[in-house]
This record gives sequence, C-alpha cells and structure tokens, in this order.
Amino acid sequence: MRNSEPYVKLDEGLVSRKIFFDEQIYAEELERIFARCWLFLGHESQIPAPGDYMTAYMGEDPILICRGSDGVVRAFLNSCRHRGMKVCRADRGNARQFTCSFHGWTYTNTGELRGVPLGKEAYGDRLNKSSWGLLEVPKLAVYGGMIFGNWDAGAESLDQFLGDLRWYLDVMIERQLGGIEFVPGVQRYSLNANWKIASENFAGDTYHLAYSHGSMFKLDIRQINPANPSFRDKETEYFNIGLDNGHGMTGVVFGGERYRVDRLLAEEYGPEVVEYVEACQEKLLKALPKHQAGVYAPSFSNMFPNLSFNDFSALRPIGFYLWLPKGPGRIEAWNWCGIDRDAPQVIKDQARVDFSRIQSVSGIAAQDDTENFEQVTEATRGVIGQQLDFNYQMNVGQPLLDGPADCPGRFAPYISETNQLNFYQYWAELYDARRVTKNVNG
Ligand code: FES
Ligand SMILES: [Fe+2]
Repeated sequence: MRNSEPYVKLDEGLVSRKIFFDEQIYAEELERIFARCWLFLGHESQIPAPGDYMTAYMGEDPILICRGSDGVVRAFLNSCRHRGMKVCRADRGNARQFTCSFHGWTYTNTGELRGVPLGKEAYGDRLNKSSWGLLEVPKLAVYGGMIFGNWDAGAESLDQFLGDLRWYLDVMIERQLGGIEFVPGVQRYSLNANWKIASENFAGDTYHLAYSHGSMFKLDIRQINPANPSFRDKETEYFNIGLDNGHGMTGVVFGGERYRVDRLLAEEYGPEVVEYVEACQEKLLKALPKHQAGVYAPSFSNMFPNLSFNDFSALRPIGFYLWLPKGPGRIEAWNWCGIDRDAPQVIKDQARVDFSRIQSVSGIAAQDDTENFEQVTEATRGVIGQQLDFNYQMNVGQPLLDGPADCPGRFAPYISETNQLNFYQYWAELYDARRVTKNVNG
C-alpha cells in the first residue's frame, strides 16, 4: 500500500502538489478518509417533522436522510438495492415512502423494502424483502442539532473525533438563545479545485485575508468582521489553534473581546438588540466556565475533513461550508446560513443579507476565495507543476505560543501555517491507515 511519505514532509513544511491532482490518491482518499471520518449531513432543523427528508453526500456516495414516521433520524445510501437507481431524486420534502423510478421498488421512510411491482409473478417466494432494505449508514450522531454520519461501524464516537474542537464549538452552540436553525435551502456551486485547498484555507489561512480580501476590507463595512484586525487596534491577540484529528481554528480571541464589540455594535440597533446580545452573554456564562465563555464566537474553523464554519458575532450569520469532493480537481460547495431561532427579527433579516453578500456563492469574500482555489488548481496541475511542493514553512522550527490558561489546543500566531501542517499531519495518518494500527494496539 502506498504511504504518505513522499507527499507530506512535515519537518520541512512541504506538501507535494501531487496529492491535489493524482487520480489514484483521490480514490484512496475516498476510501481511507471519507469512508472512515465523521461527515456532516445537515441540521435537524431541516427535517423537524416525521417523514421529513433531505439528500446529501458522504464522499461521492449520495445519501438520503429521513426522520422516519417513528420520529427517528436515519441516513441511507440513496441507491435502490435492485439496480442502484437513486431512490430519492428531490433535495428535500416529506414522504412516508420512496418509490424507485426505475422499476418501482418501494421503501418506507425507515428504510425497509415494502413493495416490489409484480412481486409474485416476477419473484415467486424467492425475494426475501427483509434483506433488501436501503443500506443504512451504521453510525449517526447529532451534536448541537448538527447531524453527522460515519460509514465505519468501528469508528470512534463523534465526541472523540471532535475532541477539543468541541470545547470551541460548544461556545457557538451555547450562545444561541433558541438554538441554531438553518435558513431553508442550501446554496450550491461547483468549482474546479481540490477539496483540501478549500478546507485548509478555513483551517488556518489567515495570511490571505488582508491581501486576497484587501478590497473587501477597504470598503470599511464594519459588519463584515467587527473584530477583524483591519478594524480593531493591533493590541488584540488573535490565535490560530491546531487541534487533534486535523481540526483547525483561526482568529480566535479570548477574554470576552468579541462580546464587547457586539455589545457596542448592538447599540446602533436599539434596545431590543442590546438586550439580545446581553442575554446571549448571560446564557454563555451560565453554561460554560468564564474563560471558555470569553471566546464568545470562535471565528473561522475547519472540522476535518471538509466542513468549515465561520462565527464572529451574535449579530451575524453562522456560515456552514461543506466542500464535497467530486474528483481530484472538482468541488461542489454546499453553503448554509445558520441563525439563532430566537434572535430579534432585525438580526435574522440582516443575517440572510449578510450571508449572501459576503461568503455565499455571489458574496464578495467567496468570489476572492474561489478565484484563488481555481487558479491554484489551473497553475499547478500540469505535468511539470505537479512535480513541485507547496510551501508551508512559515513557522517550521518556531516555538508554539502559550495560550490562555486552561484553553485547549496548540497555539500559534494569527499569521501562521501550523494549522495547515496539522491538517496534513492527520491526512497523512489516515492515508497511511496508522489510526487503525493505533486502535488495534489500544
Ligand atoms: S433500480 Fe430501483 S427498482 Fe430497479
Ligand atoms: Fe478567504
């Protein structure tokens, strides 16, 4: 079996361009990474009632997620057990059963094969329907309303996989008065780039912000990121934080700084919004220790492998960005706008506009990013281009920082590339199947 040694050289801060283009490496990633990691499927708020369903992908496998008539959420391979047709061809809806449009096999919303056209005539008694239900994703878990699935029945729990990322995401989840809900629908767009280029960007690339998004920051829209260094004094300390299992966070601020900015901005909206921001802070302080609540909003992050978030403020949308692999040089990006169910209407309305304006497909930030991702791909995928390495040497040999007391993770400066190497370190572990060895040895 090939291993990652020629491709990921952590000590030298080098990653081979091959891993972004090679067809065989891509096929191995689908098997060794996407079929073994916890992957994001959607949010409970999208399927609140019995019979509600939505479709998604895990790696390149199409998935059907249903809240069954029994109220239980399950996920299935969205592929008929007869000849493989997609059983559900809609994005979302409500159904008691799904009838395959090829030959008409019918499945319940709990996954059992219920009906087969011309059953007696075609099969006599030879078809054991109970063995031919939809293939269920063996591990499903919900955290903060987010639904995750894992094809590996022997995988660690979602909690273990999240590890210390959960410490930071708990802040985002606990701050919401009514819980996160997704604005209905998903924005999808395709881009010609490798999924890792987008994921590592959210995991650690603060270096590009001032340069790639320079024109956006010059617009001086304070709402874009009220706590961004472009707007704040340079004294505020921002950290990039590398976490186990390849997760990464960037631009994290401690000590309640983001709350103070929110509280100030809230005054521009009037008493209802001031009260709301104060209630969010109060809720956080009740739910979490003070030093954890002081994070208030965890900024940018990437949960390995391909789910990115941004959350800066109770006054802004929470962005969920899923980078679905569609081949080594192709991504389908799925974006959702998350909001607090109990936020004042003015904030909810603004969040939708803000989301469309900044990081959605037509947003000013996403257009900068996708241009980078696609041009990187075009300029490096040639026979000669692929022979080189990408340079992640910014912090090689430099000591890590001491973060605030009792806050988990490996702390690096705001402008650093340690999180990207942290991402590729875990990528290499999975690629080499070292995790299996580790588990076997206890
Ligand atoms: S493929 Fe579904 S019924 Fe034949
Ligand atoms: Fe960006």
